[in-house]
Amino acid sequence: MKAMVLHTHGEIGDIEWRDDWPAPEPGEGEVLVRVAACALNYHDLFTLRGMPGIKVPMPIIMGIDASGTIAGTGRGVEGWCEGDRVLIDPIDRETGRLFGEMVNGGLAEYAVVKAHQLVRLPQGVSFEAGAALPCAYGTAYRMMVTRGQVAEGAKVLILGASGGVGTCCVQLAKLAGAHVIAAASSAEKLARLEALGADEVIDYTERPFRDQIIERHGKPRIAGGGGVDVVVNFTGGETWVPSLRSLSRHGRMLTCGATAGYDPKTDIRFIWTFEQQIVGSNGWERADVEALLGLVEQGKLTPVIDRVHALSDAHAAFADMAERRIFGKVIVAP
Ligand SMILES: NC(=O)c1ccc[n+]([C@@H]2O[C@H](COP(=O)([O-])OP(=O)(O)OC[C@H]3O[C@@H](n4cnc5c(N)ncnc54)[C@H](OP(=O)(O)O)[C@@H]3O)[C@@H](O)[C@H]2O)c1
Repeated sequence: MKAMVLHTHGEIGDIEWRDDWPAPEPGEGEVLVRVAACALNYHDLFTLRGMPGIKVPMPIIMGIDASGTIAGTGRGVEGWCEGDRVLIDPIDRETGRLFGEMVNGGLAEYAVVKAHQLVRLPQGVSFEAGAALPCAYGTAYRMMVTRGQVAEGAKVLILGASGGVGTCCVQLAKLAGAHVIAAASSAEKLARLEALGADEVIDYTERPFRDQIIERHGKPRIAGGGGVDVVVNFTGGETWVPSLRSLSRHGRMLTCGATAGYDPKTDIRFIWTFEQQIVGSNGWERADVEALLGLVEQGKLTPVIDRVHALSDAHAAFADMAERRIFGKVIVAP
């Protein structure tokens, strides 16, 4: 089969294009999926480059999020037939292993998963929209709704709002009735964020975002008022302290990642003085993905898909993501 294969950690050019890779066969309790769409995530770049503490078995086919049709079933699989449209829940809840990181993923014509990882893809939801959901949108749902409980009227600053997680955070905050301040790195991205529903936008490459928040919403005061109620920060690095300093009294920081650095300098004075909370979210539960599918079916949420690449062109898709040229999700379609 055709596949993108990684033999050793490295850079984008180290991902090997193969048209003769052996197709997998489903074992007991497993299903063979013909992949229709695979959505890239920033996590794929971490897998490519290697992350401290995570030992990836090589060679590996990356690609965490995938959808497609069932092409075969192993022994003991019930309730699923060839041709069924499915979305793969990337986490094997029995072993904790992640599809596209610990077992071969969706950057290939075929993938094998445990039958219990399958989610039925409703007819009204495209393969591309389905593939966009689990990792980025599922984590956003868990962070904004399940854990973060972002509420009506809250002022919510979203950093990295143009990305996969970010575009979902914007939509979920708007659905909750929050006032959304979306921050991104170019005028084009800001225009698209406004079209997505953001009430205000901030270009953080022009001036520090904290200065812009204080100009518009006032300096946070110990007695209350000023600043924003929630900062969504999965960037980390140099954005961490300015985020703490943008939060109002009893403000909350929601985090699920650290694109720009996981061990930033901090300033705990703001945490105690303003009685702030830092709420972490890790991944998604099946219920988060099912809730998202429901919102997509009802037309309340639309996965933002920037572009679709052929599998043979996956290098370009990785480069677009690494160089911050994407608005929403990039899909690879085997
Ligand atoms: N814990 C979990 O289970 C989990 C699940 C999903 C994602 N995450 C994490 O969440 C983060 C976002 O993931 P994603 O898939 O949404 O990524 P993405 O689609 O690439 O979006 C990230 C956005 O962050 C912004 N950004 C700010 N500083 C950046 C930098 N130094 N390098 C690259 N981008 C930067 C970019 O927008 P601008 O150019 O507009 O600034 C970019 O659009 C990642 O750190 C990821 O690992 C964690």
